[in-house]
Amino acid sequence: MSSGGEPSRLLVRDLTQLVTPAGGEAPLRGRAVGQVQIVEDAYLLCEEGRIAAVGRMRDLELLDGEVEELDGGGLCAVPGLVDCHTHACFAGDRVEEFALRATGASYEELHAAGGGILSTVRATRQAGADGLRGAVRRHRDWMLHAGTTTFEAKSGYGLDRETELASLQAIAAEGGIPTWLGAHAVPPEFDDADAYLEFALREVLPEAARVAEAADVFVERGAFSAEQARRYLVACRDAGLALRLHGDQFTEQGAIPLAIELAARSVDHLEATADGGVRALAESEVAGVLLPMSALFLGRPMPPARALVDAGAAVALATDFNPGSAFCESLPLVCSLACTQLGLSPAEALGACTVNAAHVLGRADRIGRLAPGYDADVTLLDAPDWRYLAYHLGGEVVAAVVRDGRLAWRR
Ligand code: NIG
Ligand code: FE
Repeated sequence: MSSGGEPSRLLVRDLTQLVTPAGGEAPLRGRAVGQVQIVEDAYLLCEEGRIAAVGRMRDLELLDGEVEELDGGGLCAVPGLVDCHTHACFAGDRVEEFALRATGASYEELHAAGGGILSTVRATRQAGADGLRGAVRRHRDWMLHAGTTTFEAKSGYGLDRETELASLQAIAAEGGIPTWLGAHAVPPEFDDADAYLEFALREVLPEAARVAEAADVFVERGAFSAEQARRYLVACRDAGLALRLHGDQFTEQGAIPLAIELAARSVDHLEATADGGVRALAESEVAGVLLPMSALFLGRPMPPARALVDAGAAVALATDFNPGSAFCESLPLVCSLACTQLGLSPAEALGACTVNAAHVLGRADRIGRLAPGYDADVTLLDAPDWRYLAYHLGGEVVAAVVRDGRLAWRR
């Protein structure tokens, strides 16, 4: 039923191209991630928030009843982009740290000196529930304007009971998919990681598991060891959460074997992953989430994306949007990096931030494709060829966004 007399049907017509990952499987492993279906001179019909039909304009039949129309002339349609890894719930900024890093300070040194993540923890603890909701809303709108229709966001800047739970609630309330990153760093009021985990699992997990869909842990020197991560993840799995890991960002600390052992959904980062890790991941069911913006922002090596795809792994792309290591909400820019820095094709980049990202979020049956029955989430590109998504580096490539079958934003 349409509400308030508004039409419940939206026809996007005269699109230059409509492009969607081919087939219906998920995840798309190996080179299958680069198979796309292209419809030239296309239309897309949305009904009650779902995609009802897609096809060539010349095959469009006369539609009875009320239909809102959107002129797609000069535009290309791709599935609404899916950002499966962000830290969008934070207060304050790290612009001072950015300036220090620009002239030589390292991210890990700043973290060890109580700056970095812990400086965002201080700001986030002071924001209050309303402040956190406002922050997530603002960041969500930035993402929407960059073509993102589904976003995951992690807590992890509270690291106390009140702020972790308020973060997860703020993310859910603003339409995000919440992940409990209860093991992001050890807050200053605890002497060591084990004492902090004891507290987090006893005092925060029971409530966090009611709001979050997944749990995440930062496996790294100066953060959590694989052994500590196992304890955290097993407890989270037992509480019903899907599992994610930040792994191999700076050094290999056993995140990939642990992810495989625990049947995690993904290991994210992988900038330091060597050949053995590439092979192990490719032979497993665990997806690799690549975050090239974070590597660029920190001046670090890029993850071995080409090797992972060629070995048959399921790879996704995400922004890692956060105030410290990747202050960038744009998946189109991530797609540009995928093509210029990771050796992926535009089609592989598209599959990695649609179907495969949807798989990482457990939603590949609903989002990530432009096909009948999927949610009517569509990103419209101002481009004569859909590959401008990656080609127009840093450009204003997103012209409009349809979410749940309605025009959600237009440039
Ligand atoms: O994915 N590496 C751990 N966490 C984030 C960065 C968080 C921060 O610097 O505030 C990341 O890069
Ligand atoms: Fe991250």
